[in-house]
Amino acid sequence: MPEYDIKQVQSIEKFLKYWTQAMIDTHWFKEHILFHYTRNEMIEEITKEFAELDNLYLVATSKDAKEIFGVLRVKIKENIGTLGRWEPAVPVKFRNTEVDAALIQKAFSWLRANNVLKVKCLLRYPSDKPETGNWHIILYEKCGFKQKGPEGVMLLADLFKTEMFPSKVKNLHLVNRDEVSLEEFVDFTMKAYASTAEDRAIHGFDPNVSRREKNIKVLQAIKRGNFGFSPPECWKVALLEKEVVGFVIGFVPKEKYRPAHGVVASIGVFPEFRRKGIAYALINEIHSCFKKYGCRYSYVGTPKTNHPALRFYQKIGYRPVFELRSFEKTLTTLDNFPKQ
Ligand SMILES: CC(C)(COP(=O)(O)OP(=O)(O)OC[C@H]1O[C@@H](n2cnc3c(N)ncnc32)[C@H](O)[C@@H]1OP(=O)(O)O)[C@@H](O)C(=O)NCCC(=O)NCCS
Repeated sequence: MPEYDIKQVQSIEKFLKYWTQAMIDTHWFKEHILFHYTRNEMIEEITKEFAELDNLYLVATSKDAKEIFGVLRVKIKENIGTLGRWEPAVPVKFRNTEVDAALIQKAFSWLRANNVLKVKCLLRYPSDKPETGNWHIILYEKCGFKQKGPEGVMLLADLFKTEMFPSKVKNLHLVNRDEVSLEEFVDFTMKAYASTAEDRAIHGFDPNVSRREKNIKVLQAIKRGNFGFSPPECWKVALLEKEVVGFVIGFVPKEKYRPAHGVVASIGVFPEFRRKGIAYALINEIHSCFKKYGCRYSYVGTPKTNHPALRFYQKIGYRPVFELRSFEKTLTTLDNFPKQ
């Protein structure tokens, strides 16, 4: 068992040096994976957050400070702590010592002292390498985190290779947002995502699509452009003989670390109109819109339990690229030590 010290780091230069050493065995740090995190993106994010926010930056070193055993960041926002991506970052040779859990426990003590009692973290790992998430998942569970909501899947389509054909649905018309209010889009979302027991079983955990008051906030943020460019033509409503039957909303994020892409924020067809090819017609339109704005890829996420959507996306050329798992823990005074 190596002897170690855990300290707070006060300078960004030092923290980045430790972080770079600690990330050495993290899969996306070692090799570039399309759409995954990248080293430069993270360095930019860490630098920005270090300057702006009152966060926690920990390093575990050997007693003589010559060896870096691991690092852990905790970002504080609205009284919630979020662990840095893929952190604690610990080189393989120091994993499964007590250093990893000790970094988390040190962070818990600091958060308690600062009255931050909720802690979250998210793992996004490649669908074809699920084992890359194992070490963190075991560590989080050992430290008392519980998985929050179902696992998610991110899917990607290469729009240069995705061949789609005009819709065969008769009397189907697609209109832009100019003709429909945000409140109406909230009605459509509730109807498509949360009006049947089957749909609520899939989406009920996600207030962004199953609760009106949350949904309107998300739609306002998309419309304002908070996530990227979202002109009225990226908001389509499907009318079947003048009756609304479904909708799609997309945006084009400005990201320098990923190839140009659009994001399908939501797509829904009302339950009684499904399996007629309406979602196919809607996604075809949003793909045309993405291409018009220079996108090569379309990116979308859905819960792993959403089998209809997963079959739909895969049928039209999307492939699963990442799986997502969210974890959460509420701190109490009784849980200072990891379970054995
Ligand atoms: C996913 C959803 C949008 C699909 O809408 P839809 O209009 O029924 O889809 P389409 O008729 O265009 O289906 C196209 C193809 O997708 C696949 N598909 C769609 N729904 C399916 C289902 N329930 N089971 C199996 N395959 C399905 C089929 O291959 C289908 O082609 P086929 O009918 O010729 O076999 C719809 O089920 C829905 O609104 N669900 C609730 C909201 C939601 O989950 N949105 C996606 C979240 S990201």
